[in-house]
Amino acid sequence: MVNNITKTYSTSEIRALKTRYDKLLSEVSLHDRLYYRENNPRISDFEYDCLKSEVERLQEILSVYAVEIEDTAIGDDRNSGFQSFAHPSPMMSLSNTYSREELFQFSNHLEAMLGQQKFSYAIEPKIDGIAINLIYRRGKFFRALTRGNGTVGDDVSANIKTIRGLPLEIENYAEAIEIRGEVYMDKQTFIGINKMREEQELELFANPRNLAAGTLKTLDLDEVAERDLKLITYAIGHSSEKIVDLQSEVLELLKNFGFASQEKYWIAENIEEAWRCVEELDSTRHIFPYWTDGAVLKVNELQLYGILGATAKSPRWAIAYKFTPERATTKIKNIVLQVGRTGIITPVADLESVQLSGTNVSRATLHNADEISKKDIRVGDYVTVEKAGEIIPAIVAVDSIRRNVDSIPFVFPKTCPSCGSQLIQLPGEVAWRCQNLCCLPQIQRRLEHFVSRTAMDIDGLGSVIIEKLMAVKKLNNIADIYRLTFNDLEGLEKFGTKSALKILSNIDHSKNRPLWRLLHGFGILGIGEQTAKILASHFHSLDNLIAATSEELEQLNGVGIKLSNAIVTFFREQHNGNILNDLRMLGVVPGDRRLEISQNQNSKFHAKNFVLTGTLSSMTRQEAAEKIEHLGGSVANAISKQVNVLIAGENCGSKLGKAQSLGLEIWNETDLLENLNGVVA
Ligand code: IVH
Repeated sequence: MVNNITKTYSTSEIRALKTRYDKLLSEVSLHDRLYYRENNPRISDFEYDCLKSEVERLQEILSVYAVEIEDTAIGDDRNSGFQSFAHPSPMMSLSNTYSREELFQFSNHLEAMLGQQKFSYAIEPKIDGIAINLIYRRGKFFRALTRGNGTVGDDVSANIKTIRGLPLEIENYAEAIEIRGEVYMDKQTFIGINKMREEQELELFANPRNLAAGTLKTLDLDEVAERDLKLITYAIGHSSEKIVDLQSEVLELLKNFGFASQEKYWIAENIEEAWRCVEELDSTRHIFPYWTDGAVLKVNELQLYGILGATAKSPRWAIAYKFTPERATTKIKNIVLQVGRTGIITPVADLESVQLSGTNVSRATLHNADEISKKDIRVGDYVTVEKAGEIIPAIVAVDSIRRNVDSIPFVFPKTCPSCGSQLIQLPGEVAWRCQNLCCLPQIQRRLEHFVSRTAMDIDGLGSVIIEKLMAVKKLNNIADIYRLTFNDLEGLEKFGTKSALKILSNIDHSKNRPLWRLLHGFGILGIGEQTAKILASHFHSLDNLIAATSEELEQLNGVGIKLSNAIVTFFREQHNGNILNDLRMLGVVPGDRRLEISQNQNSKFHAKNFVLTGTLSSMTRQEAAEKIEHLGGSVANAISKQVNVLIAGENCGSKLGKAQSLGLEIWNETDLLENLNGVVA
């Protein structure tokens, strides 16, 4: 935004400003590289925007004093591995502001430029994702390009095609039309992925925007499809024909083309009304399935865009108003080192509790030793905490001025804080690990994982009880769970007869859980729920899997050298072999999926291929897929001749037409439910 320069500067002040400008410019270029190319930002969007706005302010002052300066480069997301193509019309970005006053200034500017012309505003959520340009030729999907440098972008068509519901045909037969939108990852998917990573003790993704950006540039299409990216469109770029007159009509038209539409948008007659819409968006955005980091205000009358024009980087007919992330200042009481299931040592800041975005925050992960030394975070420091992506509290800054004179840098230990073993750093990893398998917190985490909902699902055996049972030496490994007696449990402090009996019954019920649950429960490095399911449905029994060679394992989808090694080493280990024998003797015999399937051979699902499309009201598509697989069917992503049945929910896209043209059987949700009810699941 344009600021007026009121102060007069001396020559030495200008020289100092130039030095600061050069320093900030190199910082911006570092953060541009981390954000656009590596999808791994080191500072928050808010900090970046503040930095950028200072650079722009300095640029303005220095240009008034005719100082020659290098300009900020335009962010560029292109990577090798993708072919680049020119955008039919350039992809600009939006100027942004965090201030209400500047938003009103934007409106004053518009009024000054448009004089007597009446205009209104369209106010839309600003989706926190990655800009995409979808090109359709004569109504058919042709190509999807990232913004790149604004003129030339990467062709990510194959990745974009994994997005469910993307219309491959639209009712616009213009020679070429560009449809602009945002690719994003919704809250549920992002939280789910991080939950799974937490279980596997992998580093958590910091925010959904960067995960979506990384996914969009992933070469493995199965991995892209699994990440379940989503798309919302909000503009038409170049079109060989004029189509509509208003931005509100653009949004409706895109919906009619079959694109997913904005959760909500508003039309306002003046800036005061527009501001109320922005406030309404701010108070309701938490219920949206995607993250919004602001509002985009656009002039609603498209014919005025030509009059208003653009600066070198952004159009004058729109602005992004960004919501200031909630931040709070608090004190680090202590830095605690947690030992995870696989021995990774994670430093966590124990904070004086503080309110942030409606929740009480008293801990924040410090990720790893590098992060602590990079930010020089110390016990006793006053720090600024921000909630990245509205969920994970992160320390974004340390107030070194409020630091005590006797404060000392945090020294990351060389030995395990729990068992004292030497810590090691594996090649290519930043994390420090304790390798002692008998280290007590590791055993406890392994037991917690084994009984967890996504593994053997033993309800009631929570971490407090596990800890108590470990303290009295009743639990040392997973086989001991099946040796627990009524007396062991009832003997625990404050433990009732009813609870003890319930837990024993839950333990007993878990003995015949499906094989994949047992495999997942073992916590073999890198084997999550998905890979456990692949292994179970291929090998059917633990004995078959134990007998498998690395070569056999590597034939399976999603199992590479690293995983096959981890599996073989796990089963070869003597101590693990003993525990497996104990489990067998104690009656832990996983259910064989083939039996379940053969019992359901008469079901309408047995040995058939299904594709799910659109929204189901009684369950998610994931849940429906699990039920189908349980009944012997399989579920594919795309329509082909191999598919037998398309299950079409509400608002389905082009899959329905394709299935009809291939003459496939089509079920609606009622058909699905009737067929599910007709069998014993
Ligand atoms: S209109 C000239 N509308 O935010 C650019 N952009 O920070 C016109 N974005 O580059 C873009 N939600 O990638 C528009 N409702 C929305 C948006 C939106 C998110 C992105 C877009 C843009 C960036 C600017």
